[in-house]
This record gives sequence, structure tokens and C-alpha cells, in this order.
Amino acid sequence: MKPLSANLFALLFLCALASVFYVWSALESRLERHKRRFSLPGGGSLHQGLPVDLSAKTFRALLAVPPAQRPRLGARLDAHNLTDQPVPAGSGDLHVNVGKRRAAQREGPVQPGSPVDGGIFWSEWLEDLLPVGFSEEYARAWRQKARTCRVVKLEPGCGRISNQLATFADGTRACVRYGINADQVQGETLTYYLAALLGITNLPPLALSQLSGDGEQWADVRTRIGGLQWSERAVVSLTEWISNLTGVVTPAPLRQDSGGLRPVPAELRNRSTAELLELMQWSDLVVFDYLSANFDRLVSNLFSLQWDSRVMERDTNNLLRTPRGDLVFIDNEAGLVHGFRVLGMWEKYHSSVLNSVCVFRRRTTQRVAELHRRRDSRQRLLELYRDSEPLSQESGFLSDEHAGVLQDRIDRLYKHILHCKGKYGQL
Ligand SMILES: Nc1ncnc2c1ncn2[C@@H]1O[C@H](COP(=O)(O)OP(=O)(O)OP(=O)(O)O)[C@@H](O)[C@H]1O
Ligand SMILES: [Mg+2]
Repeated sequence: MKPLSANLFALLFLCALASVFYVWSALESRLERHKRRFSLPGGGSLHQGLPVDLSAKTFRALLAVPPAQRPRLGARLDAHNLTDQPVPAGSGDLHVNVGKRRAAQREGPVQPGSPVDGGIFWSEWLEDLLPVGFSEEYARAWRQKARTCRVVKLEPGCGRISNQLATFADGTRACVRYGINADQVQGETLTYYLAALLGITNLPPLALSQLSGDGEQWADVRTRIGGLQWSERAVVSLTEWISNLTGVVTPAPLRQDSGGLRPVPAELRNRSTAELLELMQWSDLVVFDYLSANFDRLVSNLFSLQWDSRVMERDTNNLLRTPRGDLVFIDNEAGLVHGFRVLGMWEKYHSSVLNSVCVFRRRTTQRVAELHRRRDSRQRLLELYRDSEPLSQESGFLSDEHAGVLQDRIDRLYKHILHCKGKYGQL
């Protein structure tokens, strides 16, 4: 009996050990998955393993912004309802550069006039104080240089290892992005041209370059390229490197515990001119990130609130500020291509952010209204991209499906603007 019970005891002991081991491994792998899910690497991998079933209720509670009412079915959506004076799309700079006098006004106290006019538009006097960020003309000249100038150095300094800080022979610099997959460079590039189509000039100029291209542009850094294990055939993006940039914290009206960015005079009146100018740029950023479905900025911060309650007190991803106060939208590679692919997971977040904004730049709404009315966003984006970028054929364009998603988002945005106009237009 004794050997039998000893064997039985040993067997039971082994079973108990095996169960403990099983439970521990399961726990460990869940913990690992949890860590991967909630770490926020820059760019593309953010979505991997995200829980699909995040209830809208949870997110709405996080944002605490009431959803916009849907426009009445059959409501007439006339582009002219939105704007008083049409601005031709493709027209040059929005503003001429401000002189010293205007620069001083930017720093000064609140202006006497209302910051909003026409119900939902930032006032003209505010628009006049905000110079063009990177004008079309400036961007064209920079692209020309960036495509031909020799790269004499490649080093860390632009984020993760697949981004490198390049120094040109003339001493100026650029961030080179080598996409881990084709989506990333394509997303970055097409999103850049979408901004141009909307007249949003907060993105540093961008050009594509092929590492094995004609000429000797990359000859001086061949060894470094080999060390990075970059394919010679790859098409990389070059973005102008801007000095003296600092981080940007999301302003109060766009945080989860506020009522949103609304054209309510009482809520805007006591803000300084510099604050209003920044909010004006944020309104463009929200429109831009909604259209391109870029989750790697405000939306990812809001998402992170679930486990990091102080995330809003830190700098916003992929957003920087010049000493003058201009916002610089960097790292747009999650836009359009990747953003559209994972839309199912992020759409409720995108919509909530959009619904929290009801004041816009007049020109941006005009561009949106026009793209809505003509339903030609695919064609316009393609033409602009082909005309501006000699390597457009190499990098490819939006699929028909994604081009349809873009047009659909333009239409939804247009309806949201109309909704705001209906709600605040009489103020
Ligand atoms: N055009 C630029 N001009 C100046 N600095 C830049 C520029 N682009 C990137 N940087 C610097 O590199 C940092 C990382 O840039 P980026 O977001 O493009 O890379 P990333 O690999 O996604 O990094 P992260 O994970 O920190 O977002 C920025 O915070 C900024 O300091
Ligand atoms: Mg980034």
C-alpha cells in the first residue's frame, strides 16, 4: 500500500506543479500581450493588438463631449451655405508674412474684436496675424534642393532607428524616413499632399528620393545605409528639419474634461491672442487628422487615458511648436493608408474628436465644401501628387477603396460643419 500511496502522492504533486506552471504561463503571456497593446510606439505598430471592443460609452465618458446631432435627412447641403466669399482652391498663400508689428500683436493682450465671426469661423483679424507656415513656393524650392543635394551624413536624431537625420552638403538637414513597409512612406507622402490640397501649411516640405537613384545623392553615406540594412531600391521620404522646436500640450478645450472647442464668445473672449492663434491651428489639425484618420496624435492620447490618466499633461505625439508659436505637424505616416486600414478600431475616437470642435478656419471649410460638392478628392489629390513628385509612380497611390473612404470622410466633415453652422450660426 505504502509504495502505491507514495506514487499517488508523487503523481498528485506533479499534477499540482503542472497546473501552477500552466496558470503562470497563461498569466505571463496575457501580461506580455497587455504590455504590447498599451505601449505606444511611434507610428505604425500602435494598432497591433488593440482591443476591438472598446465601448463607445467608455470613450464618450473619457471625452465627455456630447455627440453632434446628425443633420436632418434631406437637409440641403449647399457649399455656399458655409462661406460668404469663395476662395479659389489652389490659390497661393493664405497670408503674407507678418512684419514686426504683427509679430508684436501676436504676443500682445486680447484684441478688442470678437475672435469668431459668421458664427463658426475664426475672425479675419486673427487670420491676418497668422502667417503662412511653409508656403507652396517655399516647399517647391526646398523639394528641388532635397532631390539633388548630396547627403553627407546620416545619424540618429529623428526618432526611431528607421528615421535618420540627414545633413546635406550645404549644411541644412532633413529627417529621412525609411518605411518598414510601403504603407508608411506612402501614408506620409499622400497625407502631406492632402494638407496642401486643404491649404494647411503646418507640415514641413517633403520630397521622395530613391537610395539607388541617378546621381550621387547618397554616395557619401553608402556604408551607413548598408549598416542600417536599408534596401538600395527603397524610396525614402525627406522632410525638412526645423530647428528649435518644442513640445505641445493639448489645450484645455480639447481635453477630455472640457466642453470642446466651440465658437462661444464667453469661452474665447478671455484668451490671449497667442492662445487664440494656437487654437485656430488646432482646429485645422483636428480637421486634417479626421480626414486622414491619423490616430497617432490627439486620438492616441485620448485612447491612452484609459490607463494613463495624466497623458494630457504631457506633450502631444507628433506635434511641435516653433519659437514663434506656429504648430508643426510631423510624422504623418499613419494617415490615409494605414489609418484607413485600421479605421474600424479608431473611428469612434476620430468622430468624438471631430464632434468636439465647432469653430474652423474659413479657408479650410471652403476647401472642404468644394471637395464635397465636386466629389473629386481622388482626382485632385492624384493630380497634385503626380505634378509635384517625380517618384509618385514608384510610391503608388490610394486604392479605389481608400479613395472612396477619403471622399466619404470629406462628406461627413462637411455635414459636421453644416451642423455647427446651424447650431452657432446665429450667434
Ligand atoms: N522635421 C523635423 N524637424 C525637427 N525635428 C524633427 C523633425 N521630425 C522629427 N523631429 C524630431 O524627432 C522626433 C521624433 O520624430 P518622429 O515622430 O518623426 O519619429 P518617431 O520615430 O515616430 O518618434 P516618436 O516615437 O518619438 O514619435 C521628434 O519629436 C523631433 O524631436
Ligand atoms: Mg512619431
